[in-house]
Amino acid sequence: MTDDYTPPLSTELLTDLGSFALDTTRHERDGGSTDRNPADDITAIRQQAERHNLEFLGKGSNRLAFRLPDGNVLKLPMHSPFRDGTEQNRVENLVWEGLTDIYTPTPEDAYDPHSPIDRFAPVLACDDQHRWIIVSHAEKVGEDIEAEDKVVAISREFPYLPADCEFLRAENIGWLNGWYRIVDYGSFIPREFVRRELPAGYRDKIGDENIA
Ligand SMILES: Nc1ncnc2c1ncn2[C@@H]1O[C@H](COP(=O)(O)OP(=O)(O)O)[C@@H](O)[C@H]1O
Ligand SMILES: [Mg+2]
Repeated sequence: MTDDYTPPLSTELLTDLGSFALDTTRHERDGGSTDRNPADDITAIRQQAERHNLEFLGKGSNRLAFRLPDGNVLKLPMHSPFRDGTEQNRVENLVWEGLTDIYTPTPEDAYDPHSPIDRFAPVLACDDQHRWIIVSHAEKVGEDIEAEDKVVAISREFPYLPADCEFLRAENIGWLNGWYRIVDYGSFIPREFVRRELPAGYRDKIGDENIA
């Protein structure tokens, strides 16, 4: 979390875009069916996003991502029969807090190739109940041969992680301030990473179901 960042979020924006968030009562009522999953209606998501001057960036496994007018990225949980995106917001925020307990992020344009924290897109703010999280934007890297190099570049910094783990998949990597960074670290945090990089207090809070 960055203390001097004020989230540019109105109650109206959160209500409108929150209508795509997980609603367990609805899921129970629908017998867990995804037939009427509001997060499948990309047109409706785009319309709501535009109404609030946001760009819809994409859909992950449990969250929707939007570009805010200030350039940062807002992630909201979405309907999913499998996992609740609030859990990914909680974990991403915990990992960032755990890292900032040990490391200091390097100022812009002066990344430190040896600092683990500079391999992650920073978390700027997170709701107490994890209904939203705001992170710095990182440019997409393509699903191409070049992307493979980026994965290899990051895995070199974490030699104890297998290069083919979820964490280091190209879709979870972006470019920001001079280096490739992991943009999705809310799901399946590799055990070795948790063990080596995070203080015990954070490890305990992450929860075994989120550790791969
Ligand atoms: N920091 C970021 N900068 C730019 N795009 C991002 C960022 N974080 C996520 N995205 C985009 O949004 C998509 C969904 O976010 P992600 O964190 O992967 O959600 P999930 O945890 O549900 O998989 C990603 O696949 C990526 O395309
Ligand atoms: Mg993802």
